[in-house]
Amino acid sequence: MGKNLAALDHYIQFCNGGSCKKKGAEELTQEMRANLRSQGLFHKVHTMKTLCMGRCEDAPVLIMQPDNVWYKNVCLEKGEEIIEQHVKNRNVIENHLLFKNGAHKVLSENERKGPTPAKFIKALDHDLGLVEIAQATASEQELYPMLKDLFIKFHKEISIHFSISKTDGIKLTRPAKFDYHRPFLSIQNPEFNLSLIIAPLPKTEDNKKLLPERIGNVEVFRKLNTQEKPYKWGIRMKDKKDELKLLIYCEDPSFKINQSEISCWQHFVKIYLDL
Ligand code: FES
Repeated sequence: MGKNLAALDHYIQFCNGGSCKKKGAEELTQEMRANLRSQGLFHKVHTMKTLCMGRCEDAPVLIMQPDNVWYKNVCLEKGEEIIEQHVKNRNVIENHLLFKNGAHKVLSENERKGPTPAKFIKALDHDLGLVEIAQATASEQELYPMLKDLFIKFHKEISIHFSISKTDGIKLTRPAKFDYHRPFLSIQNPEFNLSLIIAPLPKTEDNKKLLPERIGNVEVFRKLNTQEKPYKWGIRMKDKKDELKLLIYCEDPSFKINQSEISCWQHFVKIYLDL
């Protein structure tokens, strides 16, 4: 029988992502689980391991629920204290706190600088000509929804190019199908079959060949040569060797989709460039 959720007072989310594991998260999880078990708290506290919770600089991290209290840099001693104070007495341990509901800021000693905000700069690009161009983030978290937006939501508006020299691209007659077996993302439809690597690849011997193939550079551009029709804006993706993997053009920045007032261009600039 599974855990009786109705009997729980707490559940603890232990981050077991890469950075937390490096700082002892696996041992912490096992020790805290053992401690809870031996104190007869098994039926009152549910524990789960998660992947990265987005606060690697404060690793190892755990969250006490349903209080939404985040603890940082949790060593074995702090783990014991959390059980004594928080689990048993519902006292939040302010000294170890990273965040709690109602707080106005995250209490980290190791806060990292956020990514540089995207900005358009005017450039005479070797392949694209005169453009306004901005860098987007090439992480899996950004690329996967971006590609789904392009190939499914806005598929009627785009044309796809696999080489810079060909001016006529592939137009999609229907939304593409996605098949993601990390690290390979396959995008298929009757007109083409595309395989991309967007997942982070640890530097292992096995990944040596794949690493240079990963998408490492994503740019959103708007053409400034208004004589050049019908292409107005697009997205260019290159791998880590600086080779073109995918070039997508959208015909008109003011194009309206369905009944919505939001154009494909506005959507991308807002969602993926945060501008
Ligand atoms: S790996 Fe734990 S917060 Fe990122």
